[in-house]
Amino acid sequence: MQQVEICFSPDLIQLHELQGKIVVVVDIFRATSTMVAALANGISEIKTCADLEECRTMASSGYLIAGERNGIKAEGFQLGNSPLAYLSGDYHNQKLAMTTTNGTLAISKSAGADEILIGAFPNLQATVSYIQSRDKDVLIHCAGWKAKFNLEDSLYAGALVKALEATHEAEDDGAIAMKSLFEKEGHDLKGFLSQASHAKRLQNHNIDSDIDFCLTLDLFSLVGKVENETLVAVENW
Ligand code: MLT
Repeated sequence: MQQVEICFSPDLIQLHELQGKIVVVVDIFRATSTMVAALANGISEIKTCADLEECRTMASSGYLIAGERNGIKAEGFQLGNSPLAYLSGDYHNQKLAMTTTNGTLAISKSAGADEILIGAFPNLQATVSYIQSRDKDVLIHCAGWKAKFNLEDSLYAGALVKALEATHEAEDDGAIAMKSLFEKEGHDLKGFLSQASHAKRLQNHNIDSDIDFCLTLDLFSLVGKVENETLVAVENW
């Protein structure tokens, strides 16, 4: 039986062993949900950047640039961080460079893992099927909010622990706690997560229309995977 554990913040990642593991990076509101929406609607690859200037310079190499800080679109960028921006398919076959407050940082801090996947509710089952085909231990890396625990990433982690229970044991206290939270609250994701601090922050910025999308289950069968420092889609899982 493989093992599954949870890291609740990028600031705690050094407490976890990454080698030999699949790391699933999760930022439900909104970075990883947006990455899945972009890959599912024709974006060919995503370069995730830790800082704004690194991302801005990618425009000169033909990348679309998308980014936010504190939920607000970064100045001079073509796109912010809304998953809804990609659903029209307007950016088919384009390359994207992206930087966000927490999600892209968590991806960069996951280097050293055997495989890095991105997790989101719209492709939860695809991620589960992929993981169960790999026979490796799993670390779920929550992006949180500015190094602090957040509710939405941790609840997703509980959903993934629950979905993997046939193949992966939850030995870690965090995994046990979040699995039981999901068992209790998973039937009403939107109701329970309406009290999450970042959901309120998005509402204050009138960008809460993204929340429904971020909490929709299994829209896509693709898996988002980092290959050669670039996020791409692995289809049909
Ligand atoms: C993040 O990386 O912190 C989030 O994706 C922020 C957001 O999109 O509002």
